[in-house]
Amino acid sequence: MNLILLGPPGAGKGTQAKRLEDRHGLEQLATGDMLRAERESGSELGRRVQAVMDAGRLVSDEIMIALIAQRIDRLGDAKGFVLDGFPRTVPQAEALDAMLAQRGLKLDFVIEITVDEAALIDRISGRFTCSSCGASYHERYNRPKVEGACDFCGAAQFVHRADDRPETVRARLAAYHAQTAPILPYYRARGLLRAVDGMAAPDQVTRAIEALLAQSAAPSHG
Ligand code: AP5
Repeated sequence: MNLILLGPPGAGKGTQAKRLEDRHGLEQLATGDMLRAERESGSELGRRVQAVMDAGRLVSDEIMIALIAQRIDRLGDAKGFVLDGFPRTVPQAEALDAMLAQRGLKLDFVIEITVDEAALIDRISGRFTCSSCGASYHERYNRPKVEGACDFCGAAQFVHRADDRPETVRARLAAYHAQTAPILPYYRARGLLRAVDGMAAPDQVTRAIEALLAQSAAPSHG
């Protein structure tokens, strides 16, 4: 099963992608996490993208398409992938279609997580992430099940993201509306787009996504 999660910064893409990875044996391909890992490692790519990310702007299509193509070629034993943060522009969506077709793969669903914009700054300012596996938590809405330990990998260190300051979040939201929202009609026209209410609690959003996947897996009659 190959999925894309779409939605503005703070919609809950990373939170739900991690759960899909865990429950369905999919590989989470989170481009933001990949770029942050490049920055941490001090690679040339990491240095090149640093200023763009810190300003809340999008990294170039050329870099992102090359990065994701490499990762799709290294899927190994995963039962598919869940893309979180890619594609983010129409050229990225077109390039993804071409790279999947070349590899004999297809997309099953594109799931839009819809949210009220007013909630996003609050969500993002309360976020902390696992420094080992990148899982997202929130000070009030989504704490680890065992205090101080990541639900997914057990690590005990958590960090705040450099681009989560309110002024950068506003720039990221502007980039979402200008450059990413136009890919919704692209996938709607292909019959792949589904929406879930991202304003519900995280567990309810998970249930809504699971219901959608179960529906599609059920044999059709008539
Ligand atoms: P990226 O890391 O992808 O950030 P983003 O898309 O802005 O999304 P976020 O990670 O902020 O939000 P999310 O939807 O994953 O929410 P989360 O689950 O964490 O990208 C960062 C940067 O990298 C970009 O700005 C760009 O520069 C660059 N980049 C990356 N990909 C690129 C690409 N393809 N092209 C070009 N540039 C690219 O949840 C948020 C918070 O809310 C958490 O605290 C969580 O615990 C909480 N929460 C989650 N769900 C709920 C809920 N239902 N109710 C209450 N709280 C909730």
